[in-house]
Amino acid sequence: MRIPQTFIDELLTRTDIVEIIDKHVPLKKAGKEYMACCPFHNEKTPSFTVSPQKQFYHCFGCGAHGTAIGFLMDYERMEFVEAVEELASMLGLNVPREQGGETQPDRDSPRLLELLEQANHYFQQQLREHPAAQKAVDYLKQRGVSGEIAKRFGLGFAPPGWNNLTQLHPDPETRQRLAAAGLIVARPGNEFYDRFRNRIIFPIRNRRGRVIGFGGRVLDANDNPKYLNSPETPVFHKGRELYGLYEVREQLRHPQRLLVVEGYMDVIALAQFDIPYAVATLGTATSADHLKALFRLVKEVVFCFDGDAAGRRAASKALETALPLIEDGHQVGFLFLPEGQDPDSLVRSEGRQGFEARITQAMPLSEYLLHSHARQIDTHSVDGKARFIATLRPLLKQLRPGIFRELVLRKTAEYLQLPLSALEQGLDKPVTAETPVPARPTSRQPVKKTPVRHAITLLLHHPEFAQKIDDLEALREIDLPGIKLFVELLETLRSNPNLNIGALLERWRDKDNAKHLLTLARQTLPGEKQGLSAEFSDVIKNLMAVKHEQRWQALQQKLSREGLSQAEKLEYQQLLDVMSQQNT
Ligand code: UTP
Ligand code: MN
Repeated sequence: MRIPQTFIDELLTRTDIVEIIDKHVPLKKAGKEYMACCPFHNEKTPSFTVSPQKQFYHCFGCGAHGTAIGFLMDYERMEFVEAVEELASMLGLNVPREQGGETQPDRDSPRLLELLEQANHYFQQQLREHPAAQKAVDYLKQRGVSGEIAKRFGLGFAPPGWNNLTQLHPDPETRQRLAAAGLIVARPGNEFYDRFRNRIIFPIRNRRGRVIGFGGRVLDANDNPKYLNSPETPVFHKGRELYGLYEVREQLRHPQRLLVVEGYMDVIALAQFDIPYAVATLGTATSADHLKALFRLVKEVVFCFDGDAAGRRAASKALETALPLIEDGHQVGFLFLPEGQDPDSLVRSEGRQGFEARITQAMPLSEYLLHSHARQIDTHSVDGKARFIATLRPLLKQLRPGIFRELVLRKTAEYLQLPLSALEQGLDKPVTAETPVPARPTSRQPVKKTPVRHAITLLLHHPEFAQKIDDLEALREIDLPGIKLFVELLETLRSNPNLNIGALLERWRDKDNAKHLLTLARQTLPGEKQGLSAEFSDVIKNLMAVKHEQRWQALQQKLSREGLSQAEKLEYQQLLDVMSQQNT
């Protein structure tokens, strides 16, 4: 179920970015724009500007920039859909969904969340009140979980018995929903039984703090399985959610780093020892979605792994997932724990200081990359070096061009005692040329001013210029980089003349040239609208001149090769006329 584009357009034309940002970062008016000290980096003099015309923010200091949606995503760490919902609720609008895909679960999600919240409440109450709860309380005490931490993580107790939750909801429709939420299990004959029985309950919350699923741990060492988790449901996707992330955010508004561990109890024990920045994957490998969520919050991520073979397998999987996602400034560490230990047991024996010392000594990803592959290969021989490079090639290819990639290459060259150039040759062509992912543009990089770029920049700042063009088709045929994008923008604006720059950029969010557009949108254009309008006409004229020249050259070539048809001769002559007029 998608949110219709028209709704997002409307949202962004009705939203005022100044008002949204001002709620979080008090703004001061300065000329046409508003300013503040940038919330995305530390500074004493304001370089963060918000433009009500553009509906766009930009920091001249650190280069942060975006629309109202982007601000909520970056500042409030919301997902795209969450940000849209937030803006909509401010305007008192409901977010419509487009048909297509699974409609049923999505429409039902609010009901499922409600039932999950009720169940959460019930489990917590049972931990306090149920006659059989003493065993659970004792268990938690014996594992050293304090009342405060139990409360922070909302721990609960699912009492013994097969029908506790089921009995609370006799209505058949509600039972269906409980089953859809993973709380009860259907069996033949329209019967249901409780999924969680006689277990300690760990509620799993999404980033907004809503309960979306549960984990349940046995009390008895002999019971199986040790942990039972909610199944995948319309509101719970293990590949996306991280246990403890919401709780981290409750404790730390701007955590410095996040620790990825394996288990519920690891997260809880670390929090208990005042390391409140650990999250756990939910019995799955770390996915790209997980990592993106983490990097949205911090620059440093440290993975904890068991020191055994399974831990090493998990580490190399995490390495592969991380490689294409690392941007300059990111840090990824690999912490291998002594065999037979987990973060829970270690932090209890070594305390916060001991454990944090281990974290600071975690192996940087670049080092792990080399060591994990050097193991089986003798890198002293020429042959070994070549083989080593061949094994690394697919991994190194995944790195985005940038400082981090340079660093890894340099380390690899050093490690192999090869000159950097030799390594690069060994990796085939220089990877930069074949990797299309552009390096993140920094604010200081001057943008080369080509006519197409200039045209796009002017258009972004004054979308109404789109109405000045009468022959889109003619522009489309020009053979210059960026023309396709320019024409797409024109088309969009001609059919949606009310879009502001922010709304326009949101339409490109997931497309390849989004970054280019953002760079151009950030520029400030000197001059008044009238002058810019004339400038726009001039650029278009220039572009048309290029088009005429390109066409004329094509005809010229054909003329010398095979001659021209009657119509072509006429066109050739007309082009000559037009071109000579343009030149005067
Ligand atoms: P572990 O078996 O390492 O458990 O599983 P743990 O976290 O050390 O648990 P304690 O200390 O004995 O209480 C790590 C994680 O793997 C998942 C759970 O998410 C668990 O937290 N798991 C484990 C399951 O989903 N099912 C299982 O049966 C076991
Ligand atoms: Mn454990």
